[in-house]
Parts: sequence; C-alpha cells; structure tokens
Amino acid sequence: MKDLSYDAVMGRAGEIMKTSLGLDYDKYESGSIAFDYEQMMEDVSMSLDEVIGIQREAGVGNTPLVELKNMTDLVRKISEPGKGARIFVKDESCNPSGSFKDRRASISVYMAEKMGYKGVMSATSGNYGAAVASQAAMRNLRCVIVQECFDSKGVGQPEIIEKQRKCESLGAEVVQLTVGPELFYMYLRILEETGYFNASLYSHFGISGVESLGYEIANEVKERCGKFPEVVIATTAGGGNVTGTARGLIKAGATDTKLIGASVDLTGLSMASDEDFNKKSFTTGHTGFGIPHAAMPDNTDTPRSAARMLRYMDDYLTVKQGEVFYVTELLAQLEGMERGPAGNTSLTAAFALASTMSEDEIIVVQETEYTGAGKSPLPQLAFARENGIDIHFGDPDTDVPGKSIVLPNHPSMLKVRHADLDKVSASYIKNAVAEAGVSKVTEEDMEFLIAETRHDRAFVEGCLKDLGVQLP
Ligand SMILES: Cc1ncc(COP(=O)(O)O)c(C=O)c1O
Repeated sequence: MKDLSYDAVMGRAGEIMKTSLGLDYDKYESGSIAFDYEQMMEDVSMSLDEVIGIQREAGVGNTPLVELKNMTDLVRKISEPGKGARIFVKDESCNPSGSFKDRRASISVYMAEKMGYKGVMSATSGNYGAAVASQAAMRNLRCVIVQECFDSKGVGQPEIIEKQRKCESLGAEVVQLTVGPELFYMYLRILEETGYFNASLYSHFGISGVESLGYEIANEVKERCGKFPEVVIATTAGGGNVTGTARGLIKAGATDTKLIGASVDLTGLSMASDEDFNKKSFTTGHTGFGIPHAAMPDNTDTPRSAARMLRYMDDYLTVKQGEVFYVTELLAQLEGMERGPAGNTSLTAAFALASTMSEDEIIVVQETEYTGAGKSPLPQLAFARENGIDIHFGDPDTDVPGKSIVLPNHPSMLKVRHADLDKVSASYIKNAVAEAGVSKVTEEDMEFLIAETRHDRAFVEGCLKDLGVQLP
C-alpha cells in the first residue's frame, strides 16, 4: 500500500510523470538553467504531415477560414481613410469537441493508444477536457478529467459548469474539486492509481498538434490572397496556442507574419483565491494565466513545458472584459456566428488593431470556440451581477476586474493595449535563475535565455547583473 499523504505523493511526482508520459525529461537537462527544448520537440518523432494525417482521421482540423467582411466594414467606418485591415477567422468550433484543443488532444490520445495505455487523463477546467474526452471516445480509451469547478461554498461559474457538462456528455469521468492547491496532488494520485496516460496540455505531443493550425492558416491565406497574413492573433493562457501556431506558421514559411498573443485583462484578481474564483467572467485566455505562464512556463503538470510563448510572441495585447462581451455580440449579429468567449478575446484585439493597419493588410484571428448554455454573455453577466459586479455601458478603460464590467458605448472605444514584454521577460529570467538555484550562468544558459525571451544579449546580461548573477 503506497503512502498517499500529500508530501509522499508530491515526492513521487517525477516518477509518476515519467511513467504517465512515457518520457524521461532528465535527458534534456543541462544541470543548470538551459534545457534542450528543440530536441524535446523533435522527440515527438512524427512529421507535420503525419500529425495532419492523424488529425484528419479523427475529424480534426481543416476548419473553414471565414472573412469577416461586415466586421471589417465596421472597423473602416471608425478608422482614418486607408486604414482597416481585412479580418479573417479560423472557425475552430468546427472541430469535434468545438475548439482548437482537439488538435492538441488528438496527438496525445493517439500516442496513448499507440503506447498501450488503457486510459488518458488531464487536469483542466477548460475546453481541453472535452477535447481529450472526445478523442478518447473515438479511440475506445477511458478518460478522467480533474477539474477545479467550485468555490468553497460549492458554487460554480457558468462557463466552468458548462465545460464539466460537456466532458461528462463525452463519456469522461470528471473529478470535481474546489479551488485550491490539491488539484496537482489529486491528479498525481489518480495517474498513479490508474496507470493512465498524462495527456497534458503542456507536453510536446499536444503542442505539435497545434502546429497544423498555424500551417493551415499560412497556406490558406496564401492561396486565397496571394500572400501570407501580416498578423495572426491568438488568445493566450498557458501559451500552447501561441507556441504551436507560431511553429506551424514557421514550418509553412510565413516567417514575416507577426504572431500576437491576446488576453483578457484580469489584473488584481488572484487565480488561487477562493474569494476571487467566481468574480472572473472569463475562465481562460486571461492575464491571470497568461502572464504567470509566460514568466514561469515550467510551472505545469510536466517537468518541462513545450508551451513557451515568449519565444514566439511578437507582441501581447490585453483587452477588457466588457469589450469581449461586446465583440461576442458583434460577431453574432454582424456575421451570423454565435461563438464562445475565448476566440472572441483575440477577435477583440484584432478589431482594435485592424483600425491601426492599412486596408490591404490581413489579420487572422486563429480560432473560434463552440458556445453553449453557460458560455454566452447573458448567463455570464447574470452570474457576475449576482456576485456583486457592477455592469454598465461606458469607457472600457474604467473596468476594474472583480468590481465592474464596462461595455463600450461605441465600437471606436475598443483599444490596442500592449502588455510590457520587457517586464515579463525580466521576471522570466529571475524565475529561471531562482528555479535552477545558480549564482553564475554558463554560455549555454546565456544562449537559452536569449532564445527563451527573444531579447538580445545586452538585455539578458542586464537582467542577470541586476540579480547579482555572475556572467560566463
Ligand atoms: C478555446 C480556447 N482558446 C484559447 C485558449 C488558450 O490557449 P493556451 O492555454 O494554449 O494559451 C484556451 C485554453 O484554455 C481555449 O480553451
């Protein structure tokens, strides 16, 4: 009988991960800050063509690319003459479980079957659970999803409850937890008990599955418009969406296309707080996940995360909650597409950005997600009001997460706001040094930090000097 105390299970984490992922991460480690990220990605051991083949068999990918002509017209009405880029959206809601997460799950679940696991698991409160459940159903594998559903009073946010419903409908067993640190402990315990595969959001299998999205976008836009898009915008939380899409764009040769992340600004709300848990109207694609994951990518359920967004992001835009609700309605009423919240986060950023770009330029919003009972604006706003949030029309800049949601009075009030990537990169370096526990860095570490933060040597050296770390 194994010791199931918190400390004992957490102490066995390395071993449990190795067994449940079929991968020994130690072989990528340098013993200092650097690790061999590219080698880890290569160890997926399948080409992008094979990834696409597996996805086609499972009904994943090859989703429609839709030009949002009415949205673009509206942008042009509120822009200076000659401004207003064309906006396209990749309708990822057409995937089997209704989001781009199927691309991620399809490769993990395929590998689980190939390696002989009887079931798959994932720890997620998001669409990924439904994606894993759907792919597992197709491959006759069992599926357990561990989900943070409720606050300590047992109350759940409508979008999370919707996602739980969806996982269960697709045949998964959902382990429902209240908010708190026990999520990872429970996850490890069940992985150990069942011997199931860890279909982590952050493994190299999952991220390689997202590459097909960037690849399809580049090729489809090139075919239809004669050039690659100037900008692709991706809703950002844990960073897998940005990472996989960027890698796919690069594989298609679209190296000049700017890849921009976008998140809902939830500054001031703590993700670990029971009190704040139900004050969020967005359960993913927000800064409460985006910023910490950018600054500390390895803080996940794998020893090393394959989602490393600072490596790939050209810019990171933030949008306000009220703006996203407003754009969700615009998409439905101007384009006839009723879609879920996460994709509309990047669409909101695209709407604001388009009016700063010229008419002949192209922005691709790289996903939509399905909508369902708990996901649409009305239940979300009703729940927010029940939780004491003030909802009114006005200037979205006055929105205070956890206190108010301000719907814009006019589409011209949607704004481009840049997150400070220098600051996030400096935090990344600080965290990497602390995690490795080093007082001096090697030349390999320097090269790694330059690649990880996409900053030059002088920037990295400056950050390390500020931390009192000795240079090579
Ligand atoms: C539909 C949808 N879009 C975007 C994201 C963000 O993806 P990532 O966590 O890889 O940044 C999520 C994650 O939960 C999602 O479910």
